[in-house]
Amino acid sequence: MIRLAPSILSADFSQLGKETELIEKAGAHVIHVDVMDGHFVPNISYGATVMKSLCGKTKLPFDVHLMIENPDKYLEDFVTDQTEYITVHQEACPHLHRTVQHIKSLGVKAGVALNPATSLSSLDYILEEADLILIMSVNPGFGGQKFIPSALRKVEALKALKMQNDHDFIIEIDGGINLDNVRSVTDAGVELVVAGSSVFGAPDIEKRVGEFLKLF
Ligand code: DX5
Ligand code: ZN
Repeated sequence: MIRLAPSILSADFSQLGKETELIEKAGAHVIHVDVMDGHFVPNISYGATVMKSLCGKTKLPFDVHLMIENPDKYLEDFVTDQTEYITVHQEACPHLHRTVQHIKSLGVKAGVALNPATSLSSLDYILEEADLILIMSVNPGFGGQKFIPSALRKVEALKALKMQNDHDFIIEIDGGINLDNVRSVTDAGVELVVAGSSVFGAPDIEKRVGEFLKLF
C-alpha cells in the first residue's frame, strides 16, 4: 500500500490545527514532521512542542524527520502515542547503528535518511535493522525545491536491494514531489510519499490530497 505524508512545513502555522484536519478528512495517511536545527541544515523549523500540539487533534500517525545534529539527545521528545517513525540522517549519525537501536528501544519504528549526494552503500550494514529508508530528492532545509532526478535511480537501486535480500524496510521519498512526478517514484518502489508545497500550497488542499491519492 502506498501512503501520502503531507509535510506540515508548508502549512499555514497560524491554522495548523485546521489544515491538518483538512488533510485527514481528505484521506492523507501520515503527517510528516520536519525538524530543522539551523546546524545540520541551513534553516530552523519547529520542535516537538509544535508536533505535540497536534496530538489528539488528529488521529494521523506522525512521521518525524530529524534534520538535526546529535539526534540521540532529542529522540525521547518526539515519542508520543501517535509517533510511528523517527528518521535520522546517516550524515548526522557517526554511531548510526546505536541511534537506530535507541529509536527502537523507545517503541517507535526507526528510519534512516540519505542526502542526495550520499551513496546507498553507506547503508549496507544498517538495512536489516531499519524500518524505513528515506531518500531525499532535494537537499534538506527548505520546502518548495525542485526534484533532483538521480533520486529516482537511488530508489530503484534500493528497491532492488530490498527484493534481493528480503528486507522489511519501507521506502520513503521527500522533496519536490508533485502530481507530475509522483507516479515515477511510486512505480520505482516508493511506499511513503512526502509532499509539502504541492499539498499545502494548493488552492484547495483537500482536493489536492484527493488528486494524489487517485494516482496511487
Ligand atoms: C525538506 C523537507 C521536506 C519538505 C518537502 O528539507 O525534508 O519534507 O517539507 O517539501 P516539498 O514537498 O515542498 O519539496
Ligand atoms: Zn522531510
